[in-house]
Parts: sequence; structure tokens; C-alpha cells
Amino acid sequence: MSTEAAGAAATEQPLDERVNNRSQKPDSDAFRAFMAANWAPSAQELPARDDVADFAAGRRRAISMQFPKERLVIPAGALKVRSNDTDYRYRPHSAFAHLTGLGVDHEPDAVLVFEPTDDGEGDDGGQHRATLYFRPLAGRDTEQFYADARAGEFWIGARPTLAEFAARLGVATAHLDELEAAITKNVGDPAIGGTSIRLVRKVDDNIDALVDTARYNTAQDPQEADLAALDALDAKLTETLSELRLIKDDWEIEQMQIAVAATAAGFEEIIKSLPRAITHHRGERVVEGAFFAHAREEGNELGYDTIAAAGNNATTLHWTRNTGQVTPGELILVDAGVEADSLYTADITRTLPVNGTYSEVQRKVYQAVLDAADAAFAVAVPGRKFRGVHTAAMEVLADRLQDWGLLPVPAEVALSAEGQHHRRWMPHGTSHHLGLDVHDCAQAKRELYLDGIITEGMVFTIEPGLYFKNEDLAIPAEYRGIGVRIEDDILITADGPVNLSEALPRTPDEVESWMAGIYGANGPTS
Ligand code: GLY
Ligand code: MN
Ligand code: MN
Repeated sequence: MSTEAAGAAATEQPLDERVNNRSQKPDSDAFRAFMAANWAPSAQELPARDDVADFAAGRRRAISMQFPKERLVIPAGALKVRSNDTDYRYRPHSAFAHLTGLGVDHEPDAVLVFEPTDDGEGDDGGQHRATLYFRPLAGRDTEQFYADARAGEFWIGARPTLAEFAARLGVATAHLDELEAAITKNVGDPAIGGTSIRLVRKVDDNIDALVDTARYNTAQDPQEADLAALDALDAKLTETLSELRLIKDDWEIEQMQIAVAATAAGFEEIIKSLPRAITHHRGERVVEGAFFAHAREEGNELGYDTIAAAGNNATTLHWTRNTGQVTPGELILVDAGVEADSLYTADITRTLPVNGTYSEVQRKVYQAVLDAADAAFAVAVPGRKFRGVHTAAMEVLADRLQDWGLLPVPAEVALSAEGQHHRRWMPHGTSHHLGLDVHDCAQAKRELYLDGIITEGMVFTIEPGLYFKNEDLAIPAEYRGIGVRIEDDILITADGPVNLSEALPRTPDEVESWMAGIYGANGPTS
């Protein structure tokens, strides 16, 4: 075939239709009629209102009060392709989950729209009416039912109906087909009677494009449309939603406890997996798999990819490749979190001696990290600055590194802004907020995050570590290949910090007893 002929053949059928070339989908009228008939009716009774509904209404009210007279658009996000026609497991954007109370895989392409009311009297004591637009369950008489692999009931199971979500969430619902009109209606400059719009961007490309087009088309002079200023409107909404999550309500605290309890139980599974891990050429994967199985059995998913890092791999902060061997005599650092069905996640790290007993130098490093964590706990109290938690941990670590003769300068100099030598072995932060995202509230202003005041209802991690790499020539050989992190999840109460993950052993003696209780006295190889 000539190149020209080959080119013509290649254009006969559009490439994106060829995915169906393996399909033998029945297409007769007889089939369609038969397929549509004789199904038992779906459940008629509506579900009860979810426990979260009142809390989610309070969150919507808080946002509504901050943006009067503006339309707010909060997308859940679309399915993401992993490869060809297979998608990643769906997980909605956290701002959407927070404002709706929806968890698990609800709901691809959905969008929550806050429409300002004329008189400022809205739902839930706010100034807007909120409507959840989504693709509801299609009838069994539709092609979607049997032919749509991404949304059809025959393929992925029944999806919610409009009435079901309305009953569960206490929010108005509408079909996705009505979304475009709802978002674009009367968009424009409020000075001339239009409605200003704010969007949580970079969640759903289609919605970004829809909003951009509506803004462009309704600008008085499209050539002059100040897209940067409009972006700033959007950024303010995203920032405000992120800051709204700095303080957890009672329902969220309960979800954090559920996630932490499931994660703590998962660490038991990790220890139980070690005997097999040490016999496997990729033992870290055995550990990762044990925790993942537990996360899927007891929760929705992992909150983030598990770090199962044995020996020197523990000195790579985000070692998620997990291809290494697990060798008795070394440590294994495991950083893992179960995401509950509500999508709240724990984030816990324990560093375990693979053979069940810490060596002298391992114990020394571990104890330093533990002391740093305890110092951080001591200042994690309401009224103090969040950044002080890190400072307290660093003071302990710098002192200890000085005692061991590893610091090239006095600890005092290292701790100054011009020094920071100790950070060679602890380059990450000590704390981050935790919740729907493992690094929650990440778009909050610095004044409310690092420079913020620790306040009742906050949940954050305390996670100091020390990481001595095999290749590190600045330290004696005995330290090399040791990485230790201890990470707990803290709830701030009026009475001070509560360690949500306290059920998991933390001290070296407790960890050894815990492992002995699972293996017996002779360790995992017995
Ligand atoms: N698991 C990631 C972190 O500890 O921040
Ligand atoms: Mn963390
Ligand atoms: Mn972690």
C-alpha cells in the first residue's frame, strides 16, 4: 500500500471510536424491547437522612455567608483515565465531599452550585440555595443501563437517584443536563445586573471551560476581560474552603477516630506480614499488600500510597516504590493510612525492628525521635502557634545530634535561621493538618496555617524523624542506613492534645513487647 493509501485508511474511522471495535453490542429493536422489560421495580422507599447532613448544612451555611450574591461552583471532578479505557477508582474532590457529606465514589461529574437568592434568604440559614447536579441512575429502558461501561447499572451497579440523594443529604438535586444553564445563566458584572461567579478550579476541565467561556462571552469587552482578576475570585473561594476545614466538627472528629482505629488495626497486619516479608525478594511489597488488603476490607482505600521502607530505603522520605528486601537486623519504616468510607484519612508511621528487637544504635536514634515527638506534643496546646510544634521537635533533635558529635556547629547555631545544619537529617516538616486530605487545608493562608494559632477542633500530625543515608559521609558508619520516623495523629481539645493514635505502641520497649506478643519471643523468623 502506498503511504497515501495507508493515510486514507487510517482516517476512515475516528480513533476514539475504535475502542468499540471489539464490541459485539446487540443492536436490534427486539433486543432493546426485551432488555427494557420484566425487571422487578427498584426500591421505592427513600433512604433516611445521613448523620452528616446537618454538619454539611452548617459548612454550606459558613461558605454561603462569606460570598453573598455570588454563584459558587464546586465540582466533584471527572473520572480519571489510568490507561486506555480503564479509570482510576473514583474519588471526589475534598471540598465537594466536605460540603455535601458524600464519601466513597460519589459522584463522577457532579457539581454543587450555590445560587444566591434575591432576598438573601437561603437554605440552612445561608444566603444561597444549593443544588447538587449529578447523573442519576438511568432507567432499565435506556441504553445507558446495559451499554455504558462507565455509568450503566449493568456494568458498575445502581447509582443514586435524584430523590435518594435529596433524602440522604437534605439538599436539592437536579440532573446533570441542567447544569450548563445553571452555571452560565446571567453571568456577568454585578454592576450591570449580572451574577458574579466563583469556581473551584482545576477539578473538572469541562467546568473550567464552561465558566471561562461564560465569563468571556459576557465580558463587556472580551478583549479586555481581566482573566487574572477572575482567577483571583476563584482562588479566594478555594482558599476559604480549605480554611473551613482547619477546625473539624464533631462528625469529622468521629470519622478521624474511625480512620485511625482502622489504621492501627492495619499495623497489626503489617507485623503479622513480616515473617513472610523477610522470605520474599520484594518483602516491602508484602508489607504494603498486607496494609492495602486491610484498608480495602475496613475502609474505602488508602489515604495515600503506603511507604514500606526497610533499611536504607527508610531514608528516602517518600519511598513508595517498595521494591526492597526486608532483612532481620534492619528497621522497617511504615507510613500508612486507611481512608474511611467518609474519605477522612489517618496518617501514621511506626518504625519497627524487623527481628523484633532494636539494636543499641537503632534504639538511640529511635529514642531521640521519640523525645522530639514528646517535646512537640507538649507545646501542641490551644493558644500557641502551630509553627512552635516544629520548633520544639527541632530543638531536641539538634541537641541530640550535637551530643552525638554529628553537628558541625553548636546546636544553637544550627537552630538559627542562618544555620539549620540539623535539617540535613530531618528535611521535612513536623506537622501538617489532616482530614479529608492527608495534607489537609493545603490552600489555607500562611497566617492561618504555619503562623496560625492552635485551636480546639484541629487535627494534625506530629511526625519528627531522623534519616541517615548509607551514602552520608558526614556521619560515622554505625548510623548509616537508619531511618526513623514516628508519626501520630493529634486532636486538639480544650484540655490539650489527644493522641488519636495512642493505641499503637510508641516507645522502643512497647514496640518490642507488641511484636513479641504477635510473634512469640523468638521473633518473626521462628
Ligand atoms: N504520609 C505522608 C506524610 O506523612 O506526610
Ligand atoms: Mn504526615
Ligand atoms: Mn505519614
